[in-house]
Amino acid sequence: MGKKAVGIDIGGTGIKAALVDIKKGELVSDRIRVETPEGGEPEAIAAACKKIIEDLGVSHRNYPVGICFPAVVKHGFTQSAANVSKRWIGLNADELFDKTLDRHTHVINDADAAGLAEIKFGAGQGSHGLTIMTTLGTGIGTALFYNGVLIPNAELGHLEIEGVDYETKAAYSAMERENLSFEQWAERLQKYYSTLERLLVPDLFIVGGGISKNHEKFLPLLKLKTKIVPATTKNSAGIIGAASLAYASSED
Ligand code: BGC
Repeated sequence: MGKKAVGIDIGGTGIKAALVDIKKGELVSDRIRVETPEGGEPEAIAAACKKIIEDLGVSHRNYPVGICFPAVVKHGFTQSAANVSKRWIGLNADELFDKTLDRHTHVINDADAAGLAEIKFGAGQGSHGLTIMTTLGTGIGTALFYNGVLIPNAELGHLEIEGVDYETKAAYSAMERENLSFEQWAERLQKYYSTLERLLVPDLFIVGGGISKNHEKFLPLLKLKTKIVPATTKNSAGIIGAASLAYASSED
């Protein structure tokens, strides 16, 4: 049945899933999306994931399942909850998903998953030195890679700039909420990326999240020393990264 795995990307507003060809890093089924259940409670989200797997038609156990989630994830426990219910903090997410989906699952931070997809199949292929993947969505997700190796759970979306948690200013959701033009949003992104640049001196920034498909409207407005490029796996990065990690760990 080839090298395939299911990837599920849980976000603050939607849950997306597909079957992924692990060798090519490509979706081999439709991408299914459901709304994230109101309140983002653990059981409701796990039940939505079960339904999505049934809808994908992969309810038998042959495929490993990788799940990415907007929180710090250590040893299968979610340790934060920025845009979902606070009940995720300290929760054994691996156990919850294993039980609800009735199979072994692998849970990882969403930006780490998206970054893995970019490093393996996208804009980060062959990168050297420090690469910072950023996802601009409901929050700002970040993933650090040194010579292609992930340093997990970087939470740099919450950098404090001018006294505020800056994801509340520079995430794509802030642009939508405050009706900002691309120029106004880019001024905030400039502050955000130049702070990252000053603190970490990276070699490459990769910009993902759904809005990265409109990268030509805002990336050219940024003045940085570091090369900054759009993600190429776009809206499917989390799905592809989570699936490929689940596949790799099923082989261990
Ligand atoms: C969370 C991160 C997550 C990012 C993107 C942030 O608010 O703290 O864990 O990666 O949002 O969803």
